[in-house]
Amino acid sequence: MTAVLDTTVTVTADVVAEQGTPIFDEGHCPGTTSLAPVVGGTQTVPVSGGREVRYANFDYAASAPALTEVAEAFTAALGQYASVHRGAGHLSQVTTARYEQARETVRRFVGGRADDTVVFTRNTTDSINLAAHILPADGEVVVLDIEHHANLLPWQRTGRARVVVARSTFAETLAALEAELAARPAALLAITGASNVTGEVLPIRTLTALAHRHGARILVDAAQLVAHRAVSLASHGIDYLVFSGHKVYAPFGAGVLVGRSDWLDAAQPYLAGGGATQNVALEETTWHTGPARHEAGSPNVLGAVAIAAAADAIDHLGYELIGYHERDLLTRLDAGLAGLEGVTPLRIFDDVDERVGIAGFVVDGRTAREVAEHLSEHHGIGVRDGKFCAHPVLRRLGHADGAVRASFGLGTSSDDVDRLIAALAELTR
Ligand code: ALA
Repeated sequence: MTAVLDTTVTVTADVVAEQGTPIFDEGHCPGTTSLAPVVGGTQTVPVSGGREVRYANFDYAASAPALTEVAEAFTAALGQYASVHRGAGHLSQVTTARYEQARETVRRFVGGRADDTVVFTRNTTDSINLAAHILPADGEVVVLDIEHHANLLPWQRTGRARVVVARSTFAETLAALEAELAARPAALLAITGASNVTGEVLPIRTLTALAHRHGARILVDAAQLVAHRAVSLASHGIDYLVFSGHKVYAPFGAGVLVGRSDWLDAAQPYLAGGGATQNVALEETTWHTGPARHEAGSPNVLGAVAIAAAADAIDHLGYELIGYHERDLLTRLDAGLAGLEGVTPLRIFDDVDERVGIAGFVVDGRTAREVAEHLSEHHGIGVRDGKFCAHPVLRRLGHADGAVRASFGLGTSSDDVDRLIAALAELTR
């Protein structure tokens, strides 16, 4: 199958040229310190006074724009799109090969073991719902209260979640987790790799060792991590890892669960339907093992191709360079925010310095919505406001009404950061 793909992929530019009209713009943002071109990086938006300004996107943690390379791979695959796993036709073979190749690219990208199963899903939420579905009967799950709802509600619904309230330091939180796991066995520790509220990065190796020491497996919600930091199931010892395409520059509706195959193969299929079956009779059905078991129905092949293209693009840039770029911008952003009267940054832990490109904050005397609307209407800057699908931690941090979050990535430049700080300075003056 791979051979079919290798010999037939049309050069992307040809596909775009055949269509006659460009479907995406290219090029770095003006300001030139963005690290990679993203689709829409030069998009302008209307602001007050009838002006148009280039959109400054500070909402990457919600959904990152497509990398140009991702859009090109998507367009190439679209040009040869046909059914997956269902057709004998040449383009069905090409499309099936692309889909299966995407699975292997994802495995490599996250350091999956050869015997791990890579399941394509809709997004992180879907992946964790699948994880909850495969949790062995009577197995309990330990989670922190800092989690995004995606890594809380699926477990809550099982009725087998035990929530540990995070302490003000990670060291104390680790001790609390240790006590919880020691007090009563759990099947799984399900934990975020990086907070979607503050960007704080949790030490995965330490958490993995902790879980395993107490006979539990670990699931890492890497939704906010994989676009920013290298992560490896094999070398970090992670049992399950999940993430979404739309946060890794592949916004085409696919996500991933990668991990140990035994629970996946033992569970009932996540969806009952075609593609998951070995043999169907009116009385009884036998089901596949492996990824097909949980991927009934025609899969989102273009979404999977986009994730693989994003993985390749990130690998090509390298996490070292990505880290430098983001740390530069984060230092600039943090320093800018620190210099503003009445702006308070959000932090969960006093002892975690490592963060991805996320800054949550509140502004004295302004609701989060007022701040976000002001930035949009007057400055063409997009941030997220609200509770970030993480209500429990926002409430515990004393911001039950919500906060503002600026988040960024490969298409962000230092000019963007300066614009954001200048706009906030004007608002808070
Ligand atoms: N999970 C996404 C966020 O944090 C949507 O914004």
